[in-house]
Amino acid sequence: MRLTRRELVRSALGASLAAALPAGFLSACSNSSKPASAASTAASASSGVRQFAASSEIAFPRSFFWGTATAAYQVEGAWKEDGKAESIWDRFSHTAGTIKNKDTGDIACDSYHRWRDDIALMRAMNLNSYRFSISWPRIQPSGSGLANSRGLDYYSRLVDALLEAKIRPFVTLYHWDLPQALEDAGGWPHRDTASRFSDYVEIVARALGDRVTDWMLFNEPSVFTFSGYLEGVHAPGHQSLLDFLRATHVVNLAQGAGFRALKSARPQARVGTAFNMSPCEPATGSDADKLAAERAHAITNVWFLEPALKGRYPAAFTYLPEAVMKIASGDMEKIRAPLDFIGINLYSRTIASSPSALQRITHVQDWLFPVSMTSSGGEQGPKTDFGWEVWPQALHDMVMRISHDYNRPVIEITESGCAYNDGPDATGEIRDSRRIEYHRNYLAALARAIADGADVRGYHAWSLIDNFEWAEGFSQRFGLAYMDFKTQQRTIKESGRWYAKVAAENLLRTRT
Ligand code: FCB
Repeated sequence: MRLTRRELVRSALGASLAAALPAGFLSACSNSSKPASAASTAASASSGVRQFAASSEIAFPRSFFWGTATAAYQVEGAWKEDGKAESIWDRFSHTAGTIKNKDTGDIACDSYHRWRDDIALMRAMNLNSYRFSISWPRIQPSGSGLANSRGLDYYSRLVDALLEAKIRPFVTLYHWDLPQALEDAGGWPHRDTASRFSDYVEIVARALGDRVTDWMLFNEPSVFTFSGYLEGVHAPGHQSLLDFLRATHVVNLAQGAGFRALKSARPQARVGTAFNMSPCEPATGSDADKLAAERAHAITNVWFLEPALKGRYPAAFTYLPEAVMKIASGDMEKIRAPLDFIGINLYSRTIASSPSALQRITHVQDWLFPVSMTSSGGEQGPKTDFGWEVWPQALHDMVMRISHDYNRPVIEITESGCAYNDGPDATGEIRDSRRIEYHRNYLAALARAIADGADVRGYHAWSLIDNFEWAEGFSQRFGLAYMDFKTQQRTIKESGRWYAKVAAENLLRTRT
């Protein structure tokens, strides 16, 4: 689902870049970042992680957030209720040939009606943070103008009930469901969408910001721009290099504008974004592969972070296509957003290599973006049912790199998880021991990063319940609780009970 899991850029992006860019449109990129190996040398500060006898118990910092994450379109259902209008995901999933088994999010987990059941699950799991997203077309059905109060009321009730259960509402403002009306007006490649986004952010901040303090502006901006506008496998299903490049810049503008809108409505708010990240390792020790890994890092991990924190685009391409991206004068100031925390969604690692010299000379695309990237990790670790490599060290390395490169920012792990499709056995139990292993090992890696000096405040397992997994429909189960999609009945899996114990004790036992 992330950029790195797609067969990226070599063919699609490279070829179309070559076609799209007259030489005069190109101007040089300005910076480069440090090699991945520098990550492990990050500063060590007092960590708050305590390691007990025989290294089998690791205590997490006091007040650590133990949470789960979901997204509106993946769980809510009620796709046209209480004044909600169509989103790009409604349109896309209702289009033939887009989603496995013709699944849609029309009903999904029905969380719009069963949110009390969701909160009961979280209580049973002893959680103190819930990352969920707000559906923009519930709030502004046409993407602009007055708010739909019935939409706001739904989230207001949810927030109140979470607070009553002593669970932090951790709110994502945009998890991919753009109002279709805004897509019809040009979507994310269209500059005006950035202003529409900041208006929407202001409405939500005014309505909920008296009770919600922690916000994410976007979920995985490089995934929804890439998969939605270049690759075409996500809504709105475009396959256009120009749209993709422009969309990335407009989203960066929206991130800056949304940040300022939120802060001016609610100065006390803590505002971040949930970025998809994956440490990019060179396939070999050659200089060419190391450079390719840095380019992969630039496009995958920091294309939306470096502009926010440093006001510049990182060196992904051999040349930054400024004119094609329609970067206007003054934009690099507007895209700045001094985020209060960095959200990291991480599932696996990426292996990057450089095309051969011959390829780079004979294929313009390999000259413009000289990188080959694996799309679902490496080959050494076990694979989930979705085919993604399980590689816990990735979480340590990524957190350390961000901690090092951005001066030890506050970090929240906003997603990590695995698809294993275990169902109920004869006794009705869901014994998903592989999921327990996954979270145990990723959490141990995270604890090492905290011990090495990273300032990590929380971990959100993807996901609370099995749900609509985008183009995969209901075929990939990521939940700590099992969903019966016919009855919408929820059952906590063995992994959910295990996670409940970790959360209650604030302690990870690395041996059972
Ligand atoms: C991430 C998405 C999330 C979910 C997980 C499996 O890329 O943010 O919605 O689909 O992958």
